[in-house]
Amino acid sequence: MLNIALPKGRLGDQVHEIFSKIGYECAAIYENDRRLVLESPENNVRYLLVKPSDVAIYVEYGAADVGVVGKDILLDANPDVYELLDLGIGKCRLAVAGPEDYVEDRDRVLRVATKFQTVTKKYYSSLNREIEIVKLNGSIELAPILGLTDVIVDIVESGKTLKENHLKVLQTIVPVSARLIANRSSYLFKNDLITQMVKKLEEVLHQ
Ligand code: PRP
Repeated sequence: MLNIALPKGRLGDQVHEIFSKIGYECAAIYENDRRLVLESPENNVRYLLVKPSDVAIYVEYGAADVGVVGKDILLDANPDVYELLDLGIGKCRLAVAGPEDYVEDRDRVLRVATKFQTVTKKYYSSLNREIEIVKLNGSIELAPILGLTDVIVDIVESGKTLKENHLKVLQTIVPVSARLIANRSSYLFKNDLITQMVKKLEEVLHQ
């Protein structure tokens, strides 16, 4: 049986839709109840519904054989897993954003609110810019509005959240999409199953 860590929410629904096309459908997912482990014995698959930012942890520790996770999280957490495929969904970008009338003062240490600390540090160190990070876990856009920080580093998808809060993208750091990842031992011991899965996914994605 293949154990798949699925990010809870809209991305997970999209992933399940794709996986159904290659034979990993699990009818229990449509029931939309509170169960976190959903099995389809006839399709030899078990889905674990986890918080999107936790998918890589389940896969790294082998609690799941494979999983789907945003490239943003992979770049920031750098888990010890195989990245097998870009699924081309969940597309967005990691960007620096700030107030619409923002003007940078390069003589001051830049205060940055983010949950992506590693990516942020790397990005600004590549620019030789001294920063102070304020780690937040959500509603990052509030920080520059309240003067807590100068800018934010966060996910921008439609740009609606920024616009409605009078913020704008100042720099794009990296494009993001959902990736299929695999546990290193599972990739060895369930190699047939996983490579078959990747092959079928590639076929479906190129249709
Ligand atoms: C994410 C991100 C932005 C928003 C971007 O937040 O942190 O706030 O989506 O999407 P948009 O460009 O389409 O408006 P999420 O909804 O995941 O909640 P969070 O504030 O808890 O991070």
